[in-house]
Amino acid sequence: MDAIDRLKRDNAQYLWHPMAHPKAMKAEGSRPDIIARGEGCWVWDIDGHKLLDGVAGLWSSNLGHSCKPVRDAIVAQLDELPFFNTFRGTTHPRAIEASRALVELMRPDGVAAVLFSNGGSDAVEGALKLARQYHKLRGHKDRTKYIALRQGYHGVHFGGMSVNGNSNFRRAYEPLLPGVFHIDSPWLYRNAYTQDPEELGRLIAGQLEREIVFQGPDTVAAFIAEPIQGAGGVIVPPANFWPLVREVCSRHGVLLIADEVVTGFGRTGHLFGTRLWDVQADLWCLAKGISSGYIPLGATAISQAVADVFDADATGAGQVAHGYTYSAHPVAAAAALATMKLLVEQDIPGHVARVAPAFQQRLRDLKQRHAFVGDVRGHGLMLGIEMVADPATKAPLPKTSDLPARVARAAYRRGLMVRVSGANLILSPPLVISEAELDTLCTALEGAFDDAASEPVKT
Ligand SMILES: Cc1ncc(COP(=O)(O)O)c(C=O)c1O
Repeated sequence: MDAIDRLKRDNAQYLWHPMAHPKAMKAEGSRPDIIARGEGCWVWDIDGHKLLDGVAGLWSSNLGHSCKPVRDAIVAQLDELPFFNTFRGTTHPRAIEASRALVELMRPDGVAAVLFSNGGSDAVEGALKLARQYHKLRGHKDRTKYIALRQGYHGVHFGGMSVNGNSNFRRAYEPLLPGVFHIDSPWLYRNAYTQDPEELGRLIAGQLEREIVFQGPDTVAAFIAEPIQGAGGVIVPPANFWPLVREVCSRHGVLLIADEVVTGFGRTGHLFGTRLWDVQADLWCLAKGISSGYIPLGATAISQAVADVFDADATGAGQVAHGYTYSAHPVAAAAALATMKLLVEQDIPGHVARVAPAFQQRLRDLKQRHAFVGDVRGHGLMLGIEMVADPATKAPLPKTSDLPARVARAAYRRGLMVRVSGANLILSPPLVISEAELDTLCTALEGAFDDAASEPVKT
């Protein structure tokens, strides 16, 4: 058995993969994509097959896979101080510098401070907990409930899983957190109400208000949502939705948590997704692009108004009884500092805003070419392609359909890595991708759809 075969065998035997059945890799004919090397926007699998990274690792490797300044910052930090904690009075220079850099980046959003953690699920957990604590500090101890959107994804911790809006991520681990309620997603392609975006925005913001009133505003801590729903299928809300949500939350004293784990740091063509909608949240969840995926890091950003309440506390109840051994890990903080510097110096959001419209437009044309493409949607460098059984009725693909997986396999053969999420193909390439590389991506994907269309459809 050669080294590659051994890796494949050991992968099946020893490694459980998130979001996969442990038996899946043991099945006859299953083949893992073992990604062995990366450079720029490209990766190579263990067999030497070269692929354009259409998923940026997992919405993460925004600066590509060989960003020397981030790599150098990491190596220098390993030489200087590989680890120390930030509990209580202890700290280290990189944590302090990264907190200042992030707050400065988010000053226009009204951010005052930041609580670091290790990833997106952590950042969500921090936001959910700080929201309750904020209300308790103000004497509103009954404000404990959360409202969230169907189709939302907020990670896998018990809090985040409870606000998730997709039963696939919930069922196996129920019962979840009590006091969590969901409203419809502002999803133009699939909703029971209207095909008019403005009307939909008003309707769903109205649902939020009715849910808050029904629960009793004095019992609701926060509403959490992604500025664009990512894992749920890249659902871009109508333009009036977030401004209306902001109004509703403010009217009822409910905190607005923006989960920017995917949309943060330039993916939408703006530094942060909430800027797309010209809205300031109260708490933000950040991860992935914060360190360009080089080292795990999460952050909960805290608005001035929320920070003021903690600052005003004289009882000690404002102590943040939450944090991880590796919160603000020095190596991760060094990676984040280098990432944020490049983000600004190279105007990465500006680059995304320039190259994304042609990319979005070209892939929208897939709808004209293939009857099984029901909807193509997205903004900036995030795009979802929803496949359907019948575009006229929008009848969903049967759950057993292997069509999305077949398109993904065809793309892989043509040298493009894409991601399947239910009936959707999701694309989120590195933000530094060039126009020529985007052209290569689109050509490979168009070819993959043609390949899949020419095979007999198995349902
Ligand atoms: C919007 C959003 N929130 C939270 C998370 C969880 O992040 P992590 O996987 O780093 O825990 C994700 C992950 O994709 C996400 O997309």
